Amino acid sequence: MRLNDKVAVVTGAGRGIGRAIALKLAREGAKVCVADLDQVSAGKVAKEILDMGREALAVRVDVTDYSDVEEMVNKALDVFGMIDILVNNAGWDKAEPFLESTQETWDKVIAINFRGPINCTRAVLPHMVQRKYGKILSIASDAGRVGSSGEAVYSGAKGGVIAFSKTIAREMSRFGINVNCVCPGPTETPLFDEIASGNPKLAEGLKRAIPLRRLGKPGDIANAVAFLVSDEAEYITGQTLSVSGGLTMI
Ligand SMILES: NC(=O)c1ccc[n+]([C@@H]2O[C@H](COP(=O)([O-])OP(=O)(O)OC[C@H]3O[C@@H](n4cnc5c(N)ncnc54)[C@H](O)[C@@H]3O)[C@@H](O)[C@H]2O)c1
Repeated sequence: MRLNDKVAVVTGAGRGIGRAIALKLAREGAKVCVADLDQVSAGKVAKEILDMGREALAVRVDVTDYSDVEEMVNKALDVFGMIDILVNNAGWDKAEPFLESTQETWDKVIAINFRGPINCTRAVLPHMVQRKYGKILSIASDAGRVGSSGEAVYSGAKGGVIAFSKTIAREMSRFGINVNCVCPGPTETPLFDEIASGNPKLAEGLKRAIPLRRLGKPGDIANAVAFLVSDEAEYITGQTLSVSGGLTMI
């Protein structure tokens, strides 16, 4: 197992891609802090991990709130004594043409998708710097690399996460901290279902456009994350990996 005795904090781990990442890291041997805005779903995923014989801690967190994030980090440190891995996965979007979107939606999209990873990264870094060890992996999006109609501000926020991660990778390299991004393409999750609900032909159209001819599964993303947060990837930092069935090739 690649992550024996490592401690991982995964945000937005109550469902979808975050849940798959939490379960995969646990299967690879990690102890996992399952953090989510929804305490109930975080608790269910933590129980799934406990049932497989691994350690888990469910924490309610709003990643947009810095004091909440600090509390999450302190709880993980109290219970596990260290944090080796941070996965910034929590995200949210509402698909609509930019000209129809409101400032309220922009603020929410930027707060969750951009400020969230900034908050969590800032809160774990002092501990990682002190130990001269850490892996920070943010789930961005191909929208942040190539744009996506109906997701203008979300694309900007995800592009921001990618640029932020590259800078943190540069600043933190001397402390043995690797910082990378994974960009999912369209992936079958509750969020994707919400976005696709107003457009029944979206999924079929995407499948035709994706070279590997299917939507992503949460496990596809989790497999890439498990590699990038492991020591097998110790010479990889500041990188952005698309996991999109070939939909984007950049
Ligand atoms: N599903 C896709 O097609 C797709 C494509 C590209 C990128 N992504 C990205 O992947 C990540 C996971 O997306 P998903 O599809 O699994 O979404 P999802 O909505 O199914 O799950 C997201 C989880 O994040 C939690 N969350 C939301 N706001 C939060 C907050 N403020 N604080 C803490 N937790 C919060 C939710 O409660 C939920 O459990 C997101 O960053 C998303 O932008 C998804």
